[in-house]
Amino acid sequence: MNLFSKHDLGPATLKNRVVMAPMTRCRAIDNIPGDLMVDYYAQRASAGLIITEGTAPSANGLGYPRIPGLFSEDQVAGWRRVTDAVHAAGGTIFAQLMHTGRIAHPLNMPEGSTIVAPSAVAAAGTMFTDTDGMQPHPVPKEMDAQDIAQAIDEFVGAAKNAIAAGFDGIELHAANGYLLEQFLNPDSNQRTDGYGGTADKRSRFVLEVAEAVSKAIGADRVGIRFSPHGTFNDIAPYEGVADHYGPLAEKLQEIGLVYVHLVLGQDGLPETTLHAIRNGYHGTLMVNTGFDRTGAETTVGRGDADLISFGVPFIANPDLVERMQTDTPLADPQPDLFYAPGAEGYVDYPKAS
Ligand SMILES: Cc1cc2nc3c(=O)[nH]c(=O)nc-3n(C[C@H](O)[C@H](O)[C@H](O)COP(=O)(O)O)c2cc1C
Repeated sequence: MNLFSKHDLGPATLKNRVVMAPMTRCRAIDNIPGDLMVDYYAQRASAGLIITEGTAPSANGLGYPRIPGLFSEDQVAGWRRVTDAVHAAGGTIFAQLMHTGRIAHPLNMPEGSTIVAPSAVAAAGTMFTDTDGMQPHPVPKEMDAQDIAQAIDEFVGAAKNAIAAGFDGIELHAANGYLLEQFLNPDSNQRTDGYGGTADKRSRFVLEVAEAVSKAIGADRVGIRFSPHGTFNDIAPYEGVADHYGPLAEKLQEIGLVYVHLVLGQDGLPETTLHAIRNGYHGTLMVNTGFDRTGAETTVGRGDADLISFGVPFIANPDLVERMQTDTPLADPQPDLFYAPGAEGYVDYPKAS
């Protein structure tokens, strides 16, 4: 297979296998997508698939400043403008649903929201707030049965809203230490009920969300992102990752999810983990971290993955696909503007030609 060949993804046909990875950019003032975001995503529509920045399914999931949501009418209307612009430019776009769980700060969140997590265990480290700079993560509220049912409903509501806003599908963010991964990990999930303890019980919340969302919008419009072995956001390493993710992948295959997206990390995933996931899940596999054209072509050419997602390279290269096709050197991004509120370092990176 060739990196620039088509790929069928549920009802969508991707025009190439170069995916724009989800990236939080903090330009959603009042948590609503505006003009800047319309331009930013439309500029990058030559990607085979765009996965949006992490988008909260509810106020409880809005842990960072200026991240978008998909739970109010204004947010749906804002996203509708984004999806229309991307589709008009010939692109395909999925919304990444990200509930931040314990990676949050009250200063970032609307009044009436609650910081929730599987267990009342604070993540180590600090996070950015607009008003008071870096602040320690607070101790979250341990979710009770009602909170769990509510969170599942919130994911379902946001998935339906995504379809109403014109998205081609959604990605569940079960990577990088946010709520879904907080349930998977035995350090952040210290529950002793049906949602914690054994590997199967720690997978239960993720599977219930995946199942409920698939029922609502169709499993062929639902992908999921994992970072097994990742330690970002104070996720502690643990024994038995392959034995955990293997059966989890098998259940996702049964549900019929349209893709699994793996953050391989700088060192790649251990062969045993990759093998266990591959054995369980046979649908579209997308991989990420540190790819350039050569690495991506080799991986797709060998059949090791169907799709490759690129993060940072898409920030400064809206025409990344064309640049890779023509061997045009890539521009360097300005990291100090990754999360800044304005147009600079966001929509002002030019195309090569
Ligand atoms: C500015 C920035 C924001 C990010 N935000 C998200 C996010 O919202 N959701 C997510 O799953 N990953 C997020 N990531 C991780 C990227 O999707 C990707 O995994 C990472 O950049 C490694 O891929 P790369 O080597 O191609 O850049 C972010 C990365 C960057 C640089």
